Amino acid sequence: MDIQREINFWVEIMKDHARFMRNGFDPTEDRFFDEAHEFYKRFKYFTSGSERGREGDEKLLILQNLVLDFVGFKSRVGAGIQACKILSILPAEFIFHIRREAMFFLGILARLRGGPRLTRQELNIPGQGLATTVPQVLIPQLRREFREIAYDELFFWLEINYDHAGVLAMYFRPGQEEYMRETLQWERQIKGLYDEVKRAFYASRSPEPFIPVSINMMKQWEHFLQKLLNDLTCCTIPGKQMNIWPRIVDHMIRENNYFLEVLEILRRVR
Ligand SMILES: [Fe+2]
Ligand SMILES: [Fe+2]
Repeated sequence: MDIQREINFWVEIMKDHARFMRNGFDPTEDRFFDEAHEFYKRFKYFTSGSERGREGDEKLLILQNLVLDFVGFKSRVGAGIQACKILSILPAEFIFHIRREAMFFLGILARLRGGPRLTRQELNIPGQGLATTVPQVLIPQLRREFREIAYDELFFWLEINYDHAGVLAMYFRPGQEEYMRETLQWERQIKGLYDEVKRAFYASRSPEPFIPVSINMMKQWEHFLQKLLNDLTCCTIPGKQMNIWPRIVDHMIRENNYFLEVLEILRRVR
């Protein structure tokens, strides 16, 4: 995807995160509800076209500051939930997961226009130093960084995806045990691949063989998520609903698609 599409993709992801947070708070948490909704509106304003006419760089700067604020908000809310000071149906780990995604986006923005880069440690990626966080369109131009980029992307997105499976599994209802079993299998399978990649990384092997393997696995995982999304939007899942919004499954599919696009680019340039 080109730069504009990539930014739009990430802004849509940020809008969803704000809405998930907003809709997860206990009804008494008015202040946090409002704050989350405010973030949603600020990101929405950003894609509504009202920013058109400004210089591209100025636009990116505004976006960068907004994402930075949002990361801070997620940190506060995650810590608040953890300390039982903020009530929400979303676990703190969920908030830390979406914070990590926002930080990855920050890294991409920094790669585009300068600004705070993220360390691998901050993104929970094995290895030392700054994470590569390259916008898709720049990957083919950075052949010398192929190994670092491939490992960073594999580690980041495989972890994101097995997290998704683990989160989903928490929200099935009685009668949906088959779905829950399958989802937990996906968590184990993706985590298994992640561990293999980790062993290869520490043994200084090439990340190349993991690219086609990941493409295969992520396509099947997507197929599973599509079936679940369809069952949720058509209410054909046993019991008609699960205890989470259908949008979350759609969101996971879009993040997985982004990863699949990165993998296809890596396969072409290796
Ligand atoms: Fe997300
Ligand atoms: Fe995610």
